[in-house]
Amino acid sequence: MPEKPDEMVVTPWRVEGEIDYEKLIRQFGTQPIGEEILEKFRRYTGGLHYQLRRRIFFSHRDLDWIFRKLEEGEKFVLYTGRGPSGPVHLGHIVPWIFTKHLQDSFQAKLYFQLTDDEKYLYHEEFSLEFTTRTAYDNALDLIALGFKPELTRIIVDAVHIEALYHLAIKVAKHITGSTIKAVFGLKDSDNIGLTFFPAVQAVPCFLESVVQGRNVPCLIPAAIDQDPYWRVTRDVAPKLGFYKPAQIHSRFMPGLGRGGKMSASQPETCIFLTDPPGEARRKIMNAFTGGQPTAEEQRRLGGNPEICSVYQYYAFIFEEDDGKLREIWENCRSGAVLCGDCKLKLADRVAGFLERHQEKREQMRDRLEEFLFSEEERKLIWSRGLPKP
Ligand code: TYM
Repeated sequence: MPEKPDEMVVTPWRVEGEIDYEKLIRQFGTQPIGEEILEKFRRYTGGLHYQLRRRIFFSHRDLDWIFRKLEEGEKFVLYTGRGPSGPVHLGHIVPWIFTKHLQDSFQAKLYFQLTDDEKYLYHEEFSLEFTTRTAYDNALDLIALGFKPELTRIIVDAVHIEALYHLAIKVAKHITGSTIKAVFGLKDSDNIGLTFFPAVQAVPCFLESVVQGRNVPCLIPAAIDQDPYWRVTRDVAPKLGFYKPAQIHSRFMPGLGRGGKMSASQPETCIFLTDPPGEARRKIMNAFTGGQPTAEEQRRLGGNPEICSVYQYYAFIFEEDDGKLREIWENCRSGAVLCGDCKLKLADRVAGFLERHQEKREQMRDRLEEFLFSEEERKLIWSRGLPKP
């Protein structure tokens, strides 16, 4: 638990307190996304994705190097993932939306890791069968977003382990128990699987280099909670002769309550991609807005979009047009639109999105195989780890 109720804690397994993103950049030693990086994006992608314009992606490591390599003719691969502990929520797809944009813009191959092992080890109450089953189910949410099968490789750790194991033990040999304890806050009473697991999450950074038999740059889009994994991986990479993976970090989409990131542990403030649209509507209509107590006061004093969860939903996913987003802000500030109407509009959009998404996700069920790491690819990678006869 944090020492004080509002103290910020950001680890891959816990995000608590009021998040100060500037402070995180200093604490984690990352770089803010500045004008130079944005200019490179403009040049390569013909504009700026709304998540960059709004600095939802706000921090990075080595993105300048990724662009330099690109200029030298070395394409990067993308790597991101999901810990299958239950249904996917809207917060999880924030980095996936951006990852898809990068895949489309750069024709980049994506490795997507489903860490059924991590979630089994972390949650006492979960069986491995449950997390593996959930992994396949979560994969449907990913592919329903429109990733290209020929450029996407989904890895389910406990199923596809033969392709990962050689690299995982090579990574593990270079990480001490005390590093893992310090970086992830593990205790002596935690199971030893959790100590080893960070080596497994490091592996996809290097898979394409093994496949191609030469170093390939890797870029990881994810929220900043995953950064501790990359700090450890970046230390090990040169010891194994690989490039350090680069990162681009997003902020956390908040829950529908007051403050805090969207988290499955608070289902009432969290919209799951499998929620019936009516259920999502109900959650939105109960959301915290920061509005005034009465309609009369709201008209006279205006609302507080800066603390409103409903406004954040428009900003993170549901309103890509900056002009229209500004209008939502101004209509709130001036009291021209009341919270109830603003919520209704968002509820319509979210419900419409869920209906389309859920239909797509069912259609993709039969196509999942096209996206999974194939036996042939796994065997190839495994055989590369064997000594030559
Ligand atoms: P997981 O399942 O906790 O989260 C999946 C992805 O969602 C991001 N995320 C969020 N982004 C925005 N707003 C939120 N409220 C929010 N909550 C979570 C996470 O940063 C992540 O990108 N250990 C990982 C699985 C993993 C992985 C990876 C993730 C394996 N390899 C490579 C990213 C990149 C996990 O449990 O993610």
